[in-house]
Amino acid sequence: MKTLNDFIQMKKNGEKIVMLTAYDYPSGRLAEEAGIDVVLVGDSLGMVVLGYDSTVPVTMADMIHHTRAARRGAKDTFMLTDMPYLTYQISTAQAMENAARLVQEGGCEGIKIEGGEEIAPQVRALVNAGIPVCGHIGLTPQSATALSGYKVQGRTAEAAKKLLHDAMALEAAGAFMIVLECIPAQVAELISKRLSIPTIGIGGGAACDGQVLVFHDTLGLFERFVPKFVKQFETLGAKAKDALGAYAAEVRSGVFPDDAHSFSMNEEQLQKIYGDHED
Ligand code: KIV
Repeated sequence: MKTLNDFIQMKKNGEKIVMLTAYDYPSGRLAEEAGIDVVLVGDSLGMVVLGYDSTVPVTMADMIHHTRAARRGAKDTFMLTDMPYLTYQISTAQAMENAARLVQEGGCEGIKIEGGEEIAPQVRALVNAGIPVCGHIGLTPQSATALSGYKVQGRTAEAAKKLLHDAMALEAAGAFMIVLECIPAQVAELISKRLSIPTIGIGGGAACDGQVLVFHDTLGLFERFVPKFVKQFETLGAKAKDALGAYAAEVRSGVFPDDAHSFSMNEEQLQKIYGDHED
């Protein structure tokens, strides 16, 4: 399993860090077997697994349950878990209590929280308590309503300067990594160059120190909408639908199950059953 020092070293060496979300045993196992550096149990869980319209309804119980499942699949991969909406903004005490639950009950190595300078006190308190913290700025889905939707952030000089300011505040507070979501590539590059901790882009261009994608997006399993920054490396959704359709057709036509997928009894035993019922 990679360590915080490994991530800093990777940035220094120009070696890209690969992060992928996972939410359960199979996705965790596949991520680990594919050699992913960091598994993120993201609160995108709400949309891609639980079927909500946003990440807002996701609870601590959901995140603990799914972190435990992903952990069983990815035992040896550095794992981060998202702190759900309004489980850390209210106070440092609230953030400490909930982060401790994610680490102790969920079994992750660290947590990710959305926000900039305004959550620096929480970041400092968590880091002082020994909990690794990954920041997340730019398009922060938990605040999508306040941001007037899922839009590119930091497009004006003023907004870009604010992002840089927030990134520096998170680094100063002790964050070990920062996700930059949906911001112009030039702004992500500037932030990545200014920070000594790694930046992980999702819609942040190629100059980030690493990249993150959502498991279901990467494999083409989430078809409700596909943001510009998503590259589908497979179309498993379409393939799965074809396979399930073939299964249904074979059951209906009697092709499945055939002898190769059935069990049989030896003739002598079978005769005894029929014999017993002859009289
Ligand atoms: O919830 C999530 O999956 C995330 C990533 C998209 C960065 O926050």
